[in-house]
Formats: sequence, C-alpha cells, structure tokens
Amino acid sequence: MTDRNHADLRQGIVDTCKEMNRNGLNQGTSGNLSHRIPSGMLITPTSLPYEHMRPDDVVAMDFAANYQGSHRPSSEWRFHRDILRARDDINVVLHTHSTFSTILAVHERGIPCFHYMVAVAGGNDIRCAPYACFGTQALSDYAVNALEGRNACLLGHHGLIVTAQTFEKALWLAVEVETLAKMYVHALAIGEPPRLSETEMAQVHEQMKRMGYGQAPDLDDVGDVPRPVPQPKLAPH
Ligand code: 13P
Repeated sequence: MTDRNHADLRQGIVDTCKEMNRNGLNQGTSGNLSHRIPSGMLITPTSLPYEHMRPDDVVAMDFAANYQGSHRPSSEWRFHRDILRARDDINVVLHTHSTFSTILAVHERGIPCFHYMVAVAGGNDIRCAPYACFGTQALSDYAVNALEGRNACLLGHHGLIVTAQTFEKALWLAVEVETLAKMYVHALAIGEPPRLSETEMAQVHEQMKRMGYGQAPDLDDVGDVPRPVPQPKLAPH
C-alpha cells in the first residue's frame, strides 16, 4: 500500500473541501471527503481545518485500514471505506453537517418526494439513517443501508452523506440535497406538504434518465431536447 501519488486527486480533495466551505455546506473541521484509488482511498485527515489543508495532508488508506500520511485519517474512515467497498459505481464519498439537512436529521426525518428533484438522489426519498456515535462501525452500517439504491442519505442527529463518480457531481448533489432540505423545512412551516405519487415519480426518473439530467448529458443520444448550434462570429467594430 504505497499510494503517495495521485497528485490530481489530492488537489481535487483540497479544492472540493474549500469549495464546501465557500458555498456554506460546511465549516470548521466538520465534514470529510474521500476518493477511490486502486489500493483503497484518499481521505481527508481528521480535525484539520480545510483552509490549512494541502495535498500532502491527504491520507492514503487501504480497505484493511492501513494508512500512510503525516496525519491520521478522518474519524469517519469506516463509512467512507464501507460505502466505496459496497458501491463500485461511485468514486467519491462526501460528508457535511450542512444546516438544513442536519435540521431534518436531528428530527430523524428524511426527505420525502414533496418535490420532484428528490429523484436526483436516485429514488423516491432521501432516507435518514438511525443515530449512532460518529466514527463507529454502527454508524457505517446504518449509512450503507440508508444509501441502498440512493446517492444521498441523512445521518440521524449528525448530517448528510452524498456519493458520486466525481468531485464535481458530489458537490452538485450536496448542494441540491441541502436546497431540498431547506425547501422542505420551510414547507413544513405551513404543514406537511403533499407527496408526488409513485407514478409521477416514475415519470420524473424516466425524464431524468432520458435527458441525462444532472449527468452532463450527451445530447446526441436523446430525442426532442434543444441542441446547441454554433454561434455566428460577431464582426469586429
Ligand atoms: P473528521 O475531522 O475526523 O473528519 O470528523 C469530522 C466529522 O464531521 C465527523 O463526523
């Protein structure tokens, strides 16, 4: 286990963490981020504020929990490892304590299909895993279960996890889920909102698949969607 390289992924972890702080998804030393590598994963070090984190601070860890680096790995290495191990369709696990997702999680509530965008997490709801202490195997087991068929889940009395193939998609999804959580919390102020039906959600999933929604669509592969045409060059003044 000698992954000291992967300079681009190390830089990607640093950049993504800083972006999480900039866009308000995270603050202080809460949250963590990992990316799959052939020998296991790269993961943020524990308790190091993102403003001070450099690519060399990122820890390389195999799935047997051997690690290399000048810092200890995130206290949540178990759920990062277990999710990456359980899901070979994803490369990135991102965890935040973003405010509105956590407001729902402290009430042990997930996000139902009150809005069609819930489908971007892969199903008809975003589940909330039961509470377990941070850094434990129990928390990891609950998280893996809550992510079954999904790319996002809340963690009871704790925060949010999203999974994706790339850093960009993970950040995008985290912002979408946090926005849904914010909308749901506000919607609850005037009562529990009605839910979309199974049929309506099935249509949303189908439409998202057809349009490659949120997946950097390849417009040549789909039907009646707008296509970009080359812009005529403007004559110089
Ligand atoms: P780490 O600094 O150990 O990653 O912990 C932060 C956190 O959010 C724990 O859930």
